[in-house]
Amino acid sequence: MIRKCLFPAAGYGTRFLPATKAMPKEMLPIVNKPLIEYAVEEARDAGLRHMALVTGRGKRALEDHFDISYELEHQIRGTEKEKFLAGTRELIDTCTFSYTRQVEMKGLGHAILSGQPLIGDEPFAVVLADDLCLNLEGDGVLTQMIQLYKKYRCSIVAIQEVPRDQTHKYGVIAGEQMADDLYRVSHMVEKPSPQDAPSNLAIIGRYILTPDIFDLIADTQPGKGGEIQITDALMKQAQNGGVLAYKFKGLRFDCGDAEGYLQASNFCYENVYLNGR
Ligand code: UTP
Repeated sequence: MIRKCLFPAAGYGTRFLPATKAMPKEMLPIVNKPLIEYAVEEARDAGLRHMALVTGRGKRALEDHFDISYELEHQIRGTEKEKFLAGTRELIDTCTFSYTRQVEMKGLGHAILSGQPLIGDEPFAVVLADDLCLNLEGDGVLTQMIQLYKKYRCSIVAIQEVPRDQTHKYGVIAGEQMADDLYRVSHMVEKPSPQDAPSNLAIIGRYILTPDIFDLIADTQPGKGGEIQITDALMKQAQNGGVLAYKFKGLRFDCGDAEGYLQASNFCYENVYLNGR
């Protein structure tokens, strides 16, 4: 079964400069909680306990976040404020965290390959923390995908319908529809222009991957933008019918750019933060 979740978090986050000059994009707060904590919570809620982070230079705050802060915790012990750290502390106590560095930022596929020593030879989940996914009505997106994995035992990508003029921001799939919310992928294109896009079904930052993906990435040449793309490696799995695309239930905010980030902040303030106080 799936036990581990990989969080590629080595990107430069150039769309958020200057905020991301000395701080990881994944530490940007949505109200009072950093993006990476929402991501780890989603994985924990899906039953995963091994959190594997691929970081890079200037990303040490990620490791510090999932560690005890003796001085701070001592300072607030027994006060009203203790509850603000309870959620983070619970993640630290119930999950293990491991880290590796992507030394050169050669793309998402390369970041996933950099995580191989932390994952080993088993199926695993991948979460891009800058895609914030919330489902206030039911199971989180990763939980939904793991339920599907139990049935199909192959790689699964989460997809969302996007307006045609947005396809250039995503990997876009084509495939045979198996159910309302499920496709068997036959083709994918990385960041196609609207006229080249095979559909408007865009891959978002949630994946379940079988471990043969590592060899496929290692054999993948740099693609669009000179980066090693996960889409190109997945395409090789898809040729053997080994990739499903799942239209998830819930909301997704692209927190890698200002508009999505603000929408997520407003949504979480009204629907999560105020309810939790
Ligand atoms: P993005 O395409 O959002 O790139 O990466 P980015 O560098 O984070 O942000 P911009 O575009 O410069 O603003 C998608 C995900 O893949 C990770 C990022 O951390 C993000 O979670 N990534 C990307 C890596 O870990 N390494 C890479 O070399 C590239």
